[in-house]
Amino acid sequence: MASADPEKGGALFRRQCAVCHSANEGGKNGVGPNLYDVVGKPHGHLEGFNYSAALKGKQGPWNYEELNHWLLAPAKYAPGTRMGFVGLKDVQDRANVIAYLRSLSPNPQPLP
Ligand code: HEC
Repeated sequence: MASADPEKGGALFRRQCAVCHSANEGGKNGVGPNLYDVVGKPHGHLEGFNYSAALKGKQGPWNYEELNHWLLAPAKYAPGTRMGFVGLKDVQDRANVIAYLRSLSPNPQPLP
């Protein structure tokens, strides 16, 4: 995470995630939930979004470790998830996009 680049993560987000997710404050849910300030929040962090039981059933917050596993292979992390996304194989891509999500918070989580 220390060498992660939130700008590259933002570019990746716009290419690969924005088709389903907004990330601005108060942004609309799409196929997936709005992701503003998601880092550190519980799994299924938005009231009113219809999450799968697979995702909602996960305990604990979205910390860096959990996000890293999720984004590597969503269907493995939460079998039955509705996030129809194959995953990001490249560890640097995952770190960059997590750094981007972190950067959206008004009060970013400390880096690991
Ligand atoms: C094809 C649509 C789609 C794409 C592409 C997609 N997602 Fe998702 N995402 C979803 C859906 C649907 C959910 C809710 C999953 C569930 O309830 O099982 C979700 C959930 C999430 C969550 C959990 C949110 C919460 O409130 O707990 C995160 C974090 C996330 N996505 C990040 C990403 C990132 C980062 C990318 C790009 C690398 C991405 N997603 C690409 C559809 C998508």
